[in-house]
Amino acid sequence: EAGTAPVKPLTGKHILVTAGPTHEPIDPVRYIANRSSGKQGFAIAAALARRGARVSLVAGPVALPTPPGVTRIDVETAREMAAAVEAALPADAAVMVAAVADWRTEGERQKIKKQAGGATLHLTENPDILAGLGARKDRPHLLIGFAAETEKVIEHATAKLARKGADWIVANDVSGDVMGGDANTVHIVSQDGVESWDRMDKAAVADALAERIAKALA
Ligand code: CTP
Ligand code: CA
Repeated sequence: EAGTAPVKPLTGKHILVTAGPTHEPIDPVRYIANRSSGKQGFAIAAALARRGARVSLVAGPVALPTPPGVTRIDVETAREMAAAVEAALPADAAVMVAAVADWRTEGERQKIKKQAGGATLHLTENPDILAGLGARKDRPHLLIGFAAETEKVIEHATAKLARKGADWIVANDVSGDVMGGDANTVHIVSQDGVESWDRMDKAAVADALAERIAKALA
């Protein structure tokens, strides 16, 4: 119809996205982190916003511009990310793309000096943000995790689906050159089984996932 814009499929939905790594300080000049460019998570946030969703993007330290129409909350550590996620609730869906550091250290106030014999770090486990969301009464209706695996991709992703109470795990085979790159080979693991997608660039993965989310929330 002339003059009427088509209704975007995610209009009225609030979707939470986490992206990028977290940095866990060892001392004022060093940190522990996972490898993550944030590209896939930012592309997903952009694809959801283009479809009309209100998007809260909780981002670890990355060098990427904020996609149009997206509300960005910058964090550094896993615990900050967990708090920002909680503060952004309620959400209709959550897409947890962040490569959260599994451990943190106490964080020394002063720079640790080199010593003969090396050094020992005491690592404490970080909160699992996705599993925390999965266990909440007010859990997002659709809860999606990502799993970057180097082997036994489907097996590990299936175990994470159950362990974290997620609806879908987007399993990502990172045995090749995906880290920081522009393409991705993913498998959507859910209670209904496994759906394997052709290798495509991260923008295409984002669009396909946003379409699947729109269908699931419709
Ligand atoms: N995740 C999270 N909080 C954590 C760790 C992971 O929210 N502390 C989320 C990630 O954002 C991702 C999913 O859980 O959506 C899977 O992350 P992954 O690191 O693959 O899972 P882990 O349970 O940490 O298992 P692994 O031993 O393989 O690292
Ligand atoms: Ca992990």
